[in-house]
Amino acid sequence: TKAVVCGLQKTGGINLGNKIGALEGKISLRNLLVTFCLIHTALSFQVHNITLPYDAPQLSETTRNTAAIYLACGVDTSKASVFVQSHVHAHVELMWLLSSDTPTGWLNRMIQFKEKSHLAGNENVGAALLTYPVLMAADILLYQSDFVPVGDDQMQHLELTRELAEKINNLYGGRKWKKLGGKGGTLFKVPEALIQPTGARVMSLTDGLSKMSKSDPSDMSRINLLDPKDVSANKVFECSPDHLLSLHADQVENMECVILLRVWLLTSGVIKKEIKEWCAERASGQFQVLKADFRARHLRPFSERRREISSKRRRLPGKCGDRADVGVQKLRVRHRYHQIRMHPSDI
Ligand code: TYM
Repeated sequence: TKAVVCGLQKTGGINLGNKIGALEGKISLRNLLVTFCLIHTALSFQVHNITLPYDAPQLSETTRNTAAIYLACGVDTSKASVFVQSHVHAHVELMWLLSSDTPTGWLNRMIQFKEKSHLAGNENVGAALLTYPVLMAADILLYQSDFVPVGDDQMQHLELTRELAEKINNLYGGRKWKKLGGKGGTLFKVPEALIQPTGARVMSLTDGLSKMSKSDPSDMSRINLLDPKDVSANKVFECSPDHLLSLHADQVENMECVILLRVWLLTSGVIKKEIKEWCAERASGQFQVLKADFRARHLRPFSERRREISSKRRRLPGKCGDRADVGVQKLRVRHRYHQIRMHPSDI
């Protein structure tokens, strides 16, 4: 059985980048469900969310919305556990155990920490922002995950998770553990990233050099999955055929059109040549077809399904707690055992 952990940190709306990067395409959760029997969809990281200031009522609203988004993206709850991370205490316990073996040098290197602490005014950021990647490692390692679908901005965190798993296995697993009388074997699986070849970094609609992000101050830079129809229509469909025509020159001043084209290519199944031909004909009728196609394939079915899901209250089955306890127990036991061996008189 293969385990997949997928996570969305909920501080703002979920955008098209999250959907394409983490939940879709070759690594679509639906496909994974067919291929693998087990998915732990670790949802709505409330423990992660408090690393920066937040608005409590909004957090609970967005948590519910995130659940609806997972379901609207096709997660099958008969096979996957969709749960709120902070409801399973083992995440925080494992994080603490892991953090004693995580060099601060590894954490200081993290680009997201540098960016976010810079934005928040370096000295005043909470320590949790620094140790955040250890919590993410705990989310993943707890479930002995084989695969983690992520966009490329999370690759560094995933690499840290892998290094940490190897380090812990080395410190407390294998031969050393055997010497202490254990049965051998590793503690944690070293997980692999599932990266979308083309959708790993969906760019901002307003700045071709940055990724589409929920923390960008400009809402025009992203297509939020929960945007009302006319709002997303404004963001995406304002581009005129004239603008699109200039795509051929890839002019920087028309960067938003270039990005739109890329998003289109990713989501519509239409190939670049066809789009170019349509644009070249400058037939606005055809251009309308293209726009409608984008909306029909990508946004409309999603928002309809989301509305349908949100209208019903339901209890999601949680199968994650027991498994997480097993995950943390392993490291807990080894620490206890080491301590007993090392300081018998203290215990
Ligand atoms: P978060 O919430 O920032 O983003 C969720 C997922 O979306 C991907 N992503 C993108 N992919 C393509 N293009 C973009 N523009 C884009 N923006 C975001 C992210 O790479 C991510 O996969 N730390 C994580 C949440 C997390 C997690 C986990 C993920 C916590 N624990 C365990 C996986 C496993 C985060 O902040 O992602």
